[in-house]
This record gives sequence, structure tokens and C-alpha cells, in this order.
Amino acid sequence: TGSAGLFGDGPAIPLAPGPWGATSGPLERYQVNGHELIVLARHGVDGVSAIAPHRVNYRANLWALREAGVEHVLGINTVGGITPATTPGRLVIPDQLIDYTWGREHTYMGDSRFPLRHVEFTAPFSAPLRDRLLATASSLGLDVMSQATYGVTQGPRLESAAEIDRLERDGCHVVGMTAMPEAGLARELELSYAICCVVVNRAAGRAPGGAGIHAEIAASLATGMGHVRRLVTRLVTTD
Ligand code: HPA
Repeated sequence: TGSAGLFGDGPAIPLAPGPWGATSGPLERYQVNGHELIVLARHGVDGVSAIAPHRVNYRANLWALREAGVEHVLGINTVGGITPATTPGRLVIPDQLIDYTWGREHTYMGDSRFPLRHVEFTAPFSAPLRDRLLATASSLGLDVMSQATYGVTQGPRLESAAEIDRLERDGCHVVGMTAMPEAGLARELELSYAICCVVVNRAAGRAPGGAGIHAEIAASLATGMGHVRRLVTRLVTTD
């Protein structure tokens, strides 16, 4: 989920709205060397961030993927780098997150459609799927940060420098707007779920000389997404 246009235009599977409403768009189905890959662009297919992070219907998206029989869900997220090692263009496979979002539909539980359970979230991402990602990245010689904490902010505005200082004191390495409630909902559905982040800018107050965030994003997005495409292609073709 989250990678509009990453693999070209695949045949789209039109979806009727399910019990949790409409997905961000159709499921696009690809065959990669005989292996099936389904892509769902969480911001929609009509341009970058057409659906703002706080408006994404995360519940409908993950539900649709599960209904389609998906075995492993890999979220692709662009993030800002907070710590010195998280340089633009680098890939980060977080093992932890802190949720600073608010007011989002963040659970399937609470009414008759889904029985109440307090799911464990000690490790928010699937360890086996992370291991596979890391092994694949290493087989490709990709420079990947293999442990990191992702701070999830509400957006859509970027953060103040003081907010980023606070995230760093909290232990965050990268900051983005979409890993939650996605990871929590995936856990409620018992999906195998992990994320691969592309650092596209230094977070607020972190660029030397105050280089503009949007200029950095424009410069590093294509490189980072090129790495993601190689990683995902190798990942789905390795059993
Ligand atoms: N902050 C929050 N989300 C982001 C950023 C950022 O700097 N860059 C990409 N997504």
C-alpha cells in the first residue's frame, strides 16, 4: 500500500465499498516473474497526496487487501529524517513507532462488526517480514537502516523545529504521517505487516543552512523510490 505508479499501470480491480467504506482506489494486480503483487495507493491514484494522510480510509484499505487474500502487506512511506544517519534517499525499515496522530478511525473494534480484543503491539511490525526485507536489501547491496523508530504525526502540515526536537527526545529517528493507524489495524486483522520508508528530506530544523524541505523532497524521491522498486521486485520473487 502506498506506492502509486511504482510498477507502472497494472490492471485495476474495481471495488464496491465494503463494510468500512471505500478504499483509496482500485487494487492493481501485477505478475512479477510469476508471483502475484497487489498494489493499493493509499493517497489515491490521481496524483501525489490527493487523499491527505488524515483522510485515508485505512480501515477500508487493509480490509480490502485481506479480502483479496493478500499474505503479506508492505507499506511504503516517505519520511523526514530526524537523526544524522537518516539522510535523504536512504531506506529505513523501522522496528518501532510512536503514534502522535489524533481523530483518525484507528480501530475495527467498538461495534457489533468486530469483537473486542486488546491486540498486542509490543512489536508493531512483523519480525519475519522485516527479516525478509532486510535480507533482500542486503542481497541487493542496498544501504538500509535496519532499526528505527517512526514518529507518526497528524499532518498534513510539516512539523515545527521544536516538535522535531521533541520527537528526537522521545527516541524517533524518522517522521511521517501514515504508519498509523495502518500498523495497528493490520495487527487487528492479524496481517503480516511491515513498512519500508524512503527518507525524502531532513525533518524541520535539521537541514544545514535551512535548505528547503520541498526542494530536498524533489531531489531525493526518485532515487529512493528506485531503491524501493528494486527491493519489492526482488522480495516478491524470493520464496
Ligand atoms: N514530516 C512528516 N512527514 C513527512 C516528512 C516530514 O518531514 N517528509 C515526508 N513525510
